[in-house]
Amino acid sequence: MEKTFVAIKPDGVKRALVGELINRFERKGYKIIGLKLIIPTQELVKEHYKEHIGKPFYPRLLKYFTSGPLVAVALEGINVVSGVRQIVGATNPDKAEVGTIRADYSQVMEQNIVHASDSVESGLREIGIWFKQEEIFENWKNLSQILIEEMQ
Ligand code: PPS
Repeated sequence: MEKTFVAIKPDGVKRALVGELINRFERKGYKIIGLKLIIPTQELVKEHYKEHIGKPFYPRLLKYFTSGPLVAVALEGINVVSGVRQIVGATNPDKAEVGTIRADYSQVMEQNIVHASDSVESGLREIGIWFKQEEIFENWKNLSQILIEEMQ
């Protein structure tokens, strides 16, 4: 089982899309193991996006991420990292395939509505940044997990 981190960015929360976006992951069968509304500190965002510090877009990215509450989500599932990236679509909404979240709900990269971890390692790192140990609940099974296990 892999784990990944998703953020519904402040524009997604302001546009009242939280339920709709989380539903996309739930209906695939991914299990929510962490979920919270949070206005991150600059320090938290700096840690999250540390590989982008110094890039021209970084100051705006920092301002955007701290501009209001966002929803932090930790998910678990089979190949969940690449599966979630498929559901989310390309970083630039112009290049995202129709039917993906970014193609369906956003117009510009600077407000591309969601973040999703790009590797298994990033997923674990980002969950560790955004959630305390006691905020992660993994010792339960959702229906998809139970049905998959029944077939094995
Ligand atoms: S890059 O160009 O390789 O650094 O891009 P990437 O690894 O895909 O991630 C860049 C993240 O910064 C957000 N962002 C932008 N990227 C590029 N250009 C501009 N102008 C820009 N503005 C914001 C982009 O959305 C990526 O964050 P996430 O959270 O993954 O969407």
